[in-house]
Amino acid sequence: MSIDTMELDTAGKVAAIPIDEIDVARPILFQQDTIGLYFDRLRKEEPVHYCRESYVGPYWSITKFDDIMAVDTNHKVFSSEAKLGGIAIQDMHSVEGALELEMFIAMDPPKHDQQRKAITPAVAPSNLLLLEPTIRERACQILDDLPIGEEFDWVDKVSVELTTMTLATLFDFPWEERRKLTRWSDVTTAAPETGIVESYEARREELIECAMYFKGLWEQRINEEPKNDLISIMAHSPATRDMPFLEFLGNLLLLIVGGNDTTRNSISGGVLALNQNPDEYRKLNDDPSLIASMVPEIIRWQTPLTHMRRTALQDWEIGGKQIKKGDKVVMWYLSGNRDDTVIEQADRFIIDRKNPRHHLSFGYGIHRCMGNRLAELQLRIIWEEIHKRFAKVEVTGEPERLFSNLVRGITKLPVRLHAR
Ligand code: HEM
Repeated sequence: MSIDTMELDTAGKVAAIPIDEIDVARPILFQQDTIGLYFDRLRKEEPVHYCRESYVGPYWSITKFDDIMAVDTNHKVFSSEAKLGGIAIQDMHSVEGALELEMFIAMDPPKHDQQRKAITPAVAPSNLLLLEPTIRERACQILDDLPIGEEFDWVDKVSVELTTMTLATLFDFPWEERRKLTRWSDVTTAAPETGIVESYEARREELIECAMYFKGLWEQRINEEPKNDLISIMAHSPATRDMPFLEFLGNLLLLIVGGNDTTRNSISGGVLALNQNPDEYRKLNDDPSLIASMVPEIIRWQTPLTHMRRTALQDWEIGGKQIKKGDKVVMWYLSGNRDDTVIEQADRFIIDRKNPRHHLSFGYGIHRCMGNRLAELQLRIIWEEIHKRFAKVEVTGEPERLFSNLVRGITKLPVRLHAR
């Protein structure tokens, strides 16, 4: 059964659900990729929607582009604070608390602003320029080792490997041990229900191991000449070198987690989107300069993080609905990115859009993704190198998707390569 048929199969069912009973937090809807039907209905009928009962408790859904922007840019009313619940629809778990780690993505000003400023030099364009040749060299290695004409899983062999490799390059992490980074990223975001860790206790232990490992790297870099990897940059830069270690670690983990699943799923999502839209694949093969506009289009299309959540600090009206102080407010970026009142033909994947960066995947306002240039850089390099080698990355079977309402993930993608 194709993905399209699966969506059509549930369209009638979605239309028949009383609007008050719609609950878009159910991870199965994302795993089956039928969530778009629910968002289409909410945008049309009740763009600011209240769900009274769900496994994550009551919450508001904001589903239109402009309303999402209004919430995301109003941090004085809509808080990201971890202690109020944080940034995901499911309240933050306390493992980071147990390690006393702090992540500025789940903080409000002034602390957020100070920490963000301290990290900024590490992802500045000048540093990315320095890293680009190494990222490219390693991307080439991976692509050159792939089998031609044989079926294999793109996610494991390419998306995970490339993202892990890029992270290892960015941190100058011991090369042979680089899969530790993938593991720690998965563990940081994992709940026991996902099967990634057995219990919160097991997760805590792994994160302590991660902390100790990075402590070793940090101490080593402080005592060496400054280099252009992110750890060395942070250890030596006047803006970051005096951070207490746990603050440094929390921010490092944020960079690892922030850059891992998101980029990984954009790499897989791009291959899938091109296969589902053969005319677009043809356009790309005819004119590889379109990679520049295709990269942001892939990021819009995939929307690797489906939402960010806020907590209302005061009563506030939005879209004619009265939000109360303390309410959980969820900005569904995935829905806003399909809002055709703002994005022309939003439900189509078009690699030569006029204004491809006008999307919500990186958020807006004071928390707008700091790694957006780095994410685009990686995708650009990968697609340039894929294009040089392969006439087509053909998807040969159904993709498998992650059971998650936050990370829009592709866990398996069988493909076959056609040499150029
Ligand atoms: C924040 C998405 C890649 C680091 C965010 C936010 C989103 C996001 C939605 C929150 C925005 C908001 O609340 O308004 C993405 C996507 C990526 C990506 C879709 C890839 C396609 C990266 C990379 C890094 C990174 C590669 C760095 C290695 C961060 C950091 C923040 C952040 C540090 C917190 C910013 C703050 O709170 O001020 N990202 N991200 N991200 N991202 Fe990314």
